[in-house]
Amino acid sequence: MAKRTAGAAAVLMALLGCASAIGVAGEPDRAARLAEYRRPNAIPFPETNPYSQAKAELGRALFFDADLSRDGSRACASCHLPSLDWTDDRPRAMRNDGRPMAVRTPTLLDIAWIERSLGWDGRFRDLEAVAFVPLSAPTNMNVPDSLLVERLNAMPTYAAAFRSAFPEAADEARPVTRRRIEQALATFQRLIVAGPAPFDAWAAGDPTAVSPAAKRGFDLFTGKAGCAACHSGSSFTDGSFHDIGTASGDDIGRGRFFPTSTALRYAFKTPTLRNVARRPPYMHDGSATGLAEVVELYDRGGIDRPSRSRDIRPLNLSAGEKADLIAFLESLTDSGADGPAHRPITAEPPRP
Ligand code: HEC
Ligand code: HEC
Repeated sequence: MAKRTAGAAAVLMALLGCASAIGVAGEPDRAARLAEYRRPNAIPFPETNPYSQAKAELGRALFFDADLSRDGSRACASCHLPSLDWTDDRPRAMRNDGRPMAVRTPTLLDIAWIERSLGWDGRFRDLEAVAFVPLSAPTNMNVPDSLLVERLNAMPTYAAAFRSAFPEAADEARPVTRRRIEQALATFQRLIVAGPAPFDAWAAGDPTAVSPAAKRGFDLFTGKAGCAACHSGSSFTDGSFHDIGTASGDDIGRGRFFPTSTALRYAFKTPTLRNVARRPPYMHDGSATGLAEVVELYDRGGIDRPSRSRDIRPLNLSAGEKADLIAFLESLTDSGADGPAHRPITAEPPRP
């Protein structure tokens, strides 16, 4: 009965000239699947750290300031580069002695929606809790909180900016605190949102916004290839942790917090796929150099081991299907630098 209704709707939509919203024969539920990925129209800010223009502006200044590292050599933006979609192009992040860290710098795109599980292994409770890890790590920015608070309080521009960003600090001689640094940085980072991509225009009803190959790729992504089991919602992530069969090194990811769990061994956070085509290499260890390599990995089903997700298995995709999947992933790319973090900061919380 439900099938009949969908069929009737397709005929009606075709008569009305909007067949594309419904899809081709055999895909009557495409519109419903597209709706699952529709962009939200507001950025979520937590009650404990609400949006304000002054706080976001202060956060932006902090994010780009190398005075936040002990020797002035690096800022947050040294690894999370706005011009590289808020990541860098290294397989693994670079320590301050030039050696590689254990993991790749993740993009900060759409971070406001994924923040309940931050870090490749989910070690961070929320966005506020991240900042002092890179700040105080001896191999990274190398500035303990007491030193940074001291330093910023001694800089009159920062003292003034903290007083206006935190009204309760208006009369304080030393308005800079660790908590306020965390809150300002987090407020700015919540503005790091992917801009609209061709995929979004298609999902909103423009049948010409993406190629036929990308449309077929979407049907594979949400169908036979099973990608949508984990890459769900408008940021294309379930915010959860899975072993997809990458990484055979000794990094067991989320498993280190759950030593008795088989499923969390080698499990890493599902990354967003927004702007994915523009930001290789891929995976927590940068082990895949391009999208073709990623698709080959999924087609093989990765390393078969007890921890591997039940949603990962050999797919036996044809060359054409692989190309379609890549065309779909490419349709998730915005036009560049058009998210709110790239624009002047406004009094009202900006729209995605
Ligand atoms: C050396 C390069 C580097 C610098 C500098 C750096 N980060 Fe990162 N960032 C990383 C890496 C690598 C990770 C992944 C860490 C992990 O998963 O264990 C990360 C993770 C994050 C995350 C979690 C993202 C996610 O999707 O899980 C946030 C948020 C973040 N960094 C913000 C910042 C802020 C704010 C600063 C400045 C105070 C900063 N980073 C400085 C490399 C860097
Ligand atoms: C079982 C959950 C799951 C399924 C199913 C899944 N993925 Fe993933 N995906 C992940 C996880 C987890 C990672 C990160 C793994 C790592 O870093 O080792 C990832 C990483 C990726 C990346 C790299 C992104 C980046 O920024 O590094 C791409 C691209 C990708 N997946 C596309 C796909 C496609 C295409 C499919 C379907 C063929 C798919 N995924 C199916 C969970 C999944």
